[in-house]
Amino acid sequence: MFRSTPDITSANFCFFRFLHVLVCNAAVFALPWSLTKDHLETTFQVNHLGHFYLVQLLQDLLCRSAPARVVVVSSESHRFTDINDSSGKLDLSLLSPSKEEYWAMLAYNRSKLCNILFSNELHCRLSPHGVTSNAVHPGNMMYSSIHHNWWLYTLLFTLARPFTKSMVSDQLMLCLYIIHFNILGMKQQKS
Ligand SMILES: NC(=O)c1ccc[n+]([C@@H]2O[C@H](COP(=O)([O-])OP(=O)(O)OC[C@H]3O[C@@H](n4cnc5c(N)ncnc54)[C@H](OP(=O)(O)O)[C@@H]3O)[C@@H](O)[C@H]2O)c1
Ligand SMILES: *[C@@H]1O[C@H](CO)[C@@H](O)[C@H](O)[C@H]1NC(C)=O
Ligand SMILES: *[C@@H]1O[C@H](CO)[C@@H](O)[C@H](O)[C@H]1NC(C)=O
Repeated sequence: MFRSTPDITSANFCFFRFLHVLVCNAAVFALPWSLTKDHLETTFQVNHLGHFYLVQLLQDLLCRSAPARVVVVSSESHRFTDINDSSGKLDLSLLSPSKEEYWAMLAYNRSKLCNILFSNELHCRLSPHGVTSNAVHPGNMMYSSIHHNWWLYTLLFTLARPFTKSMVSDQLMLCLYIIHFNILGMKQQKS
């Protein structure tokens, strides 16, 4: 993902003069342990670092496009974890653990905590320039393709399906939100 990120930015965004909304949605869940070509644990890199890097590359474009906003699709899983060692001290090496120390659910939860911390810090740094950032929790156990790495999760998501939001309604909400923001943004620019 790191290696393809500069391609994404140069290929897709060099044609655009403005970028008003960037949604950082990509994620993997329940992956068996693996390292990326950058020698980082995959969940951490896909769910957090890839977005972090993309936003760094697009930061100038976003600021030029103000009002603009970044929406980081997180989860409520961040509530269940921290990034601390056994003595309670912040330990960033936990973010890209070795195979022996890897636990897929924990890696996912930590990557989602990184999403929230990143979004909050981005908001602090860029909101004076007219670029806001928010992290959103889309809903619990929505039936998407996120569960496909382990049959047990596929079973659980299938059982929960009648009781949870559908991805269609969620994507519709996101579209309405973006349209609402764009109309508001245009009003703000006019006034
Ligand atoms: N579903 C839920 O219950 C739930 C709950 C809480 C939070 N979320 C969050 O909602 C967001 C969307 O998840 P989802 O449920 O819609 O899952 P999904 O259907 O599996 O979608 C994940 C997206 O991430 C992309 N992706 C995965 N690996 C990638 C990589 N290495 N490089 C680039 N893109 C990659 C996928 O692209 P391809 O289609 O090309 O593979 C796909 O578009 C995620 O951030 C997830 O953490 C979901
Ligand atoms: C991860 O978060 C889920 C909620 O999404 C929670 O049920 C689970 O206990 C957490 N697991 C770990 C290891 O943090
Ligand atoms: C984890 O570390 C952070 C930063 O040092 C600290 O604020 C937090 O209280 C710690 N959490 C736990 C559960 O020890």
